[in-house]
Amino acid sequence: MRRFKAARRVAGIEYAIRDIMVPAGRLEAEGVKLIKLNIGDPNKFDLDVPRHVKEALYNAVAEGYSSYAPSEGDKELREAVADREKRRGADVNASDVIITHGISESIQLLFGSMLEVGDEVLVPGPSYPPYTSFARFFGAVPVPYRTVEEEGWKPDVEDLASKITERTKMIILVNPNNPTGALYPRKSLEEIVNLAGERGILLVSDEIYDELTYEEPFYSPTMLARDLPMIIFNGFSKVYLMTGWRLGYAVFVNPAGELDEVKDAFLGQARIRISANHPCQRAAIAALKGPQQHIEEVRRKLKERRDFFHKRINEIEGLSAQKPQGAFYIFPKIEDERWPDDKRFVLEVLNRVHVVFVHGSGFCPTYGRGHFRSIFLPPIETLSKALDALESFMRET
Ligand SMILES: Cc1ncc(COP(=O)(O)O)c(C=O)c1O
Repeated sequence: MRRFKAARRVAGIEYAIRDIMVPAGRLEAEGVKLIKLNIGDPNKFDLDVPRHVKEALYNAVAEGYSSYAPSEGDKELREAVADREKRRGADVNASDVIITHGISESIQLLFGSMLEVGDEVLVPGPSYPPYTSFARFFGAVPVPYRTVEEEGWKPDVEDLASKITERTKMIILVNPNNPTGALYPRKSLEEIVNLAGERGILLVSDEIYDELTYEEPFYSPTMLARDLPMIIFNGFSKVYLMTGWRLGYAVFVNPAGELDEVKDAFLGQARIRISANHPCQRAAIAALKGPQQHIEEVRRKLKERRDFFHKRINEIEGLSAQKPQGAFYIFPKIEDERWPDDKRFVLEVLNRVHVVFVHGSGFCPTYGRGHFRSIFLPPIETLSKALDALESFMRET
């Protein structure tokens, strides 16, 4: 029999958040009930897309928006996105916005547009895995910069600066952060903005959790620098709870045309995949322009759940966690010396007490190991069951 070979470029690709579902799926197939705290999908719990956005989707289909959209995105949606980003301080208009199938596709298109084999991308350690995976896919080298656990996982700007080389093409920010829940302080962002400006490196800021913050205000680099080229990624998956609708965008902040060539390359690739989902784009206009009250409600629920999780996890012997300031993730440290390998820890917890977490090294082998990530999206009753199970695991193993 002839076996067909997969390309070498995909050999190193992993996505810990979903990869853990392979062993978890085997248990489920045997009838074991799991508490899944691995995937950051608010729609799986008691958080739902606002009704007016759903209605806008029905209406879009009824009104005939079933055709392909322009490759760069629906004009009205691009205008609504530009207006949102302008309120944040970005000097942009609709022509600077490209709509994609989620930020995930924006990462792929941007990295495909800019990275040559051997180029380096500075990514926060730990951070959202596709930044690392897509960099590798295009033959580039992801270089993690340290974030400091004891200081709420804020970026270590000295470490970041020390890792810049001739081949550094981009600095990635994920703020608020997945998996740590860190909200970057204004001062750190100012330092990074200055560094990017001085060294002529493109800043890419992933702001998908920007409205999900609990105490401190959110700052985007667009609020701190007027003349710095940068790219902002955002989307509708988290703040508007539209995860499965697959919609996001890239905003090219391009003060003197520095990003013209990259934007053309991005758009060239966007044309080969034709367009993002058209009816969902029409509904996203309603999301941005319509009532925003649901955000307050989501924030209130998440804050309560975060407070519960944070307090409870710190009561468990052998575990400790910083308090997340944004997003819906917490990144506890495994202090118990019996568990030097975070992946084994997560697999044992899965097998013995049937709670699904993601191992920290899946977010960065250097700065994520010895930790695991949990979501705190489910109601307190579910979180409480999971944490009771985790406590008994820690006691009994
Ligand atoms: C930091 C970050 N960026 C992007 C995404 C994915 O976004 P999208 O659904 O828009 O592809 C996630 C999903 O968890 C994320 O945590």
